[in-house]
Amino acid sequence: MVPTMGALHGGHLSLIRAARHENDATIVTIFVNPTQFGPSEDFAAYPRTLDADLALLQSEGVDVVFTPTVNELYPPGFQTQIDVAQVSQGLEGERRPGHFQGVATVVAKLFNLTRPTRAYFGQKDAQQVVVIRRMVADLNSRVDVVVIPTVREDDGTAMSSRNRFLSAEQRAVSPVIFRALRVAASRYTAGERHPAVLRNVIRSLVSAEPLAEIDYVSIADPRTLRELSQPVDSPLLASVAVRFSKTRLLDNMLFPAVLNDRDGLSGTLGAV
Ligand code: PAJ
Repeated sequence: MVPTMGALHGGHLSLIRAARHENDATIVTIFVNPTQFGPSEDFAAYPRTLDADLALLQSEGVDVVFTPTVNELYPPGFQTQIDVAQVSQGLEGERRPGHFQGVATVVAKLFNLTRPTRAYFGQKDAQQVVVIRRMVADLNSRVDVVVIPTVREDDGTAMSSRNRFLSAEQRAVSPVIFRALRVAASRYTAGERHPAVLRNVIRSLVSAEPLAEIDYVSIADPRTLRELSQPVDSPLLASVAVRFSKTRLLDNMLFPAVLNDRDGLSGTLGAV
């Protein structure tokens, strides 16, 4: 199964094609989950393009599309939350209180409803992968979590349903995020291991772009998401959140950087 919030783009398609290729039958779920949006976030404005999504899924040969309503998933009396305590806390979790409780709870419900052997997630939302892997291990879910590399536009910008909210001017400079991650990756390849240096490389490149406002730059352990202060020999997860006025974009890269590292480094994300 491939859980999504719809407004499907090439990133979603990559998950769906991998699922189709590797399994007998594929279920895609489309549900804009209100519980993972904070009170000041964009739940109402989140793009909803169901007709186009269904046409696309049909042309991709997806077997089942599951589009529950809010009332079906959260009927009156609903009161259970899944809290993956530690790995939900930093990064996105720190800026979006309750976000990963909403994600973990809805993903657990979607697993129970669709009972998949495998579930496909994007590396684009690396912390989400870590949270879901921890939940699956802790709750003894029998779901194999598969991680698919981030799909990018030609200029390097990670595909996202929120990219459509960028002005032409903002969109033109958004590749600065990927460029900064790549420069940090090349410094890593050249032997740089100090987290503070790598963070600064990314920070200074992104902050040189006047339209970009850095929310955070993180160098963390991809298994635990603990922020690193000392050099380590094990892989690193560099992640970035950048605001272009109201639109907040996320991106990340695993170091050592291996493009298209399917079944490679992405296995370290939330490895338990
Ligand atoms: P959504 O943002 O629709 O993303 C669905 C899946 O597509 C996620 O696993 C996400 O990481 C992946 N994805 C998004 N952009 C991608 C890209 N450029 N390359 C590769 N994969 C990409 O993530 C969610 O929905 C929700 O939190 C959900 C898991 C459905 C729970 O509500």
